[in-house]
Amino acid sequence: MIAIRGLVKSLDHRVVLNGVDLDVAKGETLVVIGRSCCGKSVLLKHVLGLMKPDAGTVTIFGKQLDQLDRAHLYELRMRCGVLFQGGALFDSLTVAENVGLGLSENTTKSKSEIADIVAERLEWVGLAGIGPRAPSDLSGGMRKRAALARAIAMDPEIVLYDEPTTGLDPITAEGINDLIVRLRERLKVTAIAVTHDMNSAFKIGDRIAMLHAGKIIFDGSVDQLRNSADPIVQQFIVGATTGPLEPL
Ligand SMILES: Nc1ncnc2c1ncn2[C@@H]1O[C@H](COP(=O)(O)OP(=O)(O)OP(=O)(O)O)[C@@H](O)[C@H]1O
Ligand SMILES: [Mg+2]
Repeated sequence: MIAIRGLVKSLDHRVVLNGVDLDVAKGETLVVIGRSCCGKSVLLKHVLGLMKPDAGTVTIFGKQLDQLDRAHLYELRMRCGVLFQGGALFDSLTVAENVGLGLSENTTKSKSEIADIVAERLEWVGLAGIGPRAPSDLSGGMRKRAALARAIAMDPEIVLYDEPTTGLDPITAEGINDLIVRLRERLKVTAIAVTHDMNSAFKIGDRIAMLHAGKIIFDGSVDQLRNSADPIVQQFIVGATTGPLEPL
């Protein structure tokens, strides 16, 4: 479903991605872990075609993004749901309007059909009845869950999660983890989640890849990650302050 080959990207004269190769099979959830600023969000933006590679290719649904015209790229994006790191909700719209935005802009569904879907997705994320509120009236965790409801409103085949649990209390975070697992199991979505929350990574990932210094330095199962002999991987997953990685 997703194939990334030799992806290179420099930003502000700094090489952020330096030859990234990754594959995600249909129905699989790949978790990409890595330190702050290592390029996780940049990687997701390439999967959506929101950023263009300096070199290398991104292929989703069997289509190489740089070979598509704008209309085809939009068509593919429509089949992807995204939970942006900051939520990216429109403050001028209600929560319900935010969640239903993709449906009202891109489908012929009626207002009442959209309202039903919106209510269902808000319930899934534990925000039943919150639809009429303004995003600015929500707590950080509620905003994140509202953004998640929007990401899954259009029954996407691919979902990209950028830090789905960061900043949430442990119980709410666990609820989001459960939801991500349920989406994988029931709806068979293919997903990439980027996170530095190791608890979440272990729960939601079929496979885990670690991005470090522009490259994938580990790609394997949760068990293989736990047993990795790589000192960088070990230091990251236990969060040790001593080791090859310096605190930022
Ligand atoms: N549009 C941009 N223009 C210039 N530099 C950018 C841009 N987007 C990202 N960067 C830089 O690329 C690097 C990687 O950023 P990115 O947002 O991918 O980090 P991240 O791994 O998601 O970090 P975090 O875990 O803190 O979210 C950073 O140094 C950032 O400043
Ligand atoms: Mg990020």
